Amino acid sequence: MVRVAVIGVGNIGYHHARNYSEIPDATLIAVADLDAKRGQAAAERFGCQFYERYEEMLEHERIEAVSIALPTGLHYRVALDVIGAGVATLVERPIASTVEEARTLVAVSREMNTVLAVGHIERFNPAVRELKRRIDAGELGDVTSVVAKRVGMLPPQVKDANVIVDLGVHDIDIINYLLGKLPTAVSATGGRALLSDRFDHAELFLKYDNIGCYIQVNWITPLKIRTLSVTGARGYAELNYITQKLDIYQTNLERHFDDFGDFVLRFGNPQTIAVPLVQEEPLRLELQSFLQTVQGLDSAVVTGEEGVEALIVAEWAMRQMGVVSASA
Ligand SMILES: NC(=O)c1ccc[n+]([C@@H]2O[C@H](COP(=O)([O-])OP(=O)(O)OC[C@H]3O[C@@H](n4cnc5c(N)ncnc54)[C@H](O)[C@@H]3O)[C@@H](O)[C@H]2O)c1
Repeated sequence: MVRVAVIGVGNIGYHHARNYSEIPDATLIAVADLDAKRGQAAAERFGCQFYERYEEMLEHERIEAVSIALPTGLHYRVALDVIGAGVATLVERPIASTVEEARTLVAVSREMNTVLAVGHIERFNPAVRELKRRIDAGELGDVTSVVAKRVGMLPPQVKDANVIVDLGVHDIDIINYLLGKLPTAVSATGGRALLSDRFDHAELFLKYDNIGCYIQVNWITPLKIRTLSVTGARGYAELNYITQKLDIYQTNLERHFDDFGDFVLRFGNPQTIAVPLVQEEPLRLELQSFLQTVQGLDSAVVTGEEGVEALIVAEWAMRQMGVVSASA
């Protein structure tokens, strides 16, 4: 049983608290939030203590693991305090606002010998896990390209991060994970279409040796879309993060054909597999994995190092676009 707490119970932190209150491995001890009304409501709902100041919570409660779900600009300072108190930490994505901050968090967690995990929640999407398994098993053949699309309107609470560090890191991390390597070249374009203070759309082009990847992220498309497709020499996969749907199309390459009708028949009908998947809440799986890691039973969390890697690529793309900071 792990004694846990949540710092920041806004949009996503509330669901960290809900999940911890439901997971048998965890005892939710407390939540902390500067917004007392919000924090108290969550504490009452999930039957735990409430603190306005997280520092007091760390001082007064015996806590073994903490989720940090604060605005991105606060991740670094608060995570330093939590890790410094020797508490296992799951910090929401992105791990921090800059690579430099993120590296410091990793270094301090190593010194303190504490678990540092990052909330790259899509890794726990059942469709992603299954796609990774099938790519590794060679079902798509050699991967040649990946296309990711993560678009929709701006969530109003996001005020201190641009679309590249807020959304782009999801897809960067997923592509790093699926391909099992880091990009060798990055270029990017984007701009401020609806927002005046921050980049709200970006198009990233990543090369992983000879594999080409395109990520489109924005807060301007009026429809929420979260999709990924992977093309390989032997097949093609289409994944929808929201519906957790995964379709595989296997190439039916047949070089010999008798006439055009035969050609269409052989090439026009790839074998299609709608992969049967059980829908599961990715956040639940992420937190369970974090708790298992804290107990030394598993190591499937997205590590601080992987959080840094995603941010390195995001900063690389930002430099290409002339963006000077995560909040611009
Ligand atoms: N993994 C995901 O898919 C995902 C989804 C949404 C958000 N996020 C990330 O989670 C983080 C939080 O996002 P959100 O949408 O829940 O934000 P939010 O604004 O809804 O919630 C943040 C909460 O932190 C509280 N807070 C602010 N400063 C505080 C402080 N010093 N001490 C204690 N509480 C404080 C606020 O009162 C608020 O309740 C962001 O970094 C965001 O990028 C991740």
